[in-house]
Amino acid sequence: MAGVFITFEGGDGSGKTTQINLLASWLEARGKNVVLTREPGGTDLGNELRDIVMHRAGFIAPRAEALLYAADRSHHIATLVRPALERGDIVLQDRYLDSSVAYQGAGRVLDPDEVRELSLWATERLMPQLTVLLDVPASIAKDRQAQTERAYDRLEAEAEDFHTRVRESYLALAAAEPERFLVIDGRRPIEEIHQLILEKVSDLVG
Ligand code: TMP
Repeated sequence: MAGVFITFEGGDGSGKTTQINLLASWLEARGKNVVLTREPGGTDLGNELRDIVMHRAGFIAPRAEALLYAADRSHHIATLVRPALERGDIVLQDRYLDSSVAYQGAGRVLDPDEVRELSLWATERLMPQLTVLLDVPASIAKDRQAQTERAYDRLEAEAEDFHTRVRESYLALAAAEPERFLVIDGRRPIEEIHQLILEKVSDLVG
């Protein structure tokens, strides 16, 4: 495939959106075609699923939750991401399958290999060339979110030990695939993080 697929991962409040926007501006200033997208969401169907999975009141069984994220992902990759990559665009995506392994696997205590396999089936095994993991301790992420003054969604509202398991799962995923992951301490200044990302991305985009 001609394009470049870069995903951003990290806990809620780790600074992904800020870094994605900075990177998009940098790439666009160099004349690159950039597609900014996210999961869940990214398509009309995805936004409906996002509403259910993040905001629906009441219990959702863990496997049903995993399937809802996988349904969003499947449609998103098939209808938006693959076509963009085939055109040769650079896709910057806020969250991908590592989110499911961390949140539904470690967070909801499903088998991480099964959760991963579900997403690989859903996406016909599309993997990113680079995954930027912004690593922030759960307690700091919670403080940052509290400052944004918006309501917590279903996942964010989970207790700190849930978010600690998510963080540990991310770090284990990164350790298992050091070629794909760039792990950055999300407590570093915004501009420093941006520079570290640029070092890696410059090699990929030429
Ligand atoms: P965000 O758009 O603010 O990052 O919120 C997405 C929420 O959904 C976040 O709490 C993480 C969660 N999530 C999962 O649990 N599994 C997934 O596969 C994805 C993509 C997100």
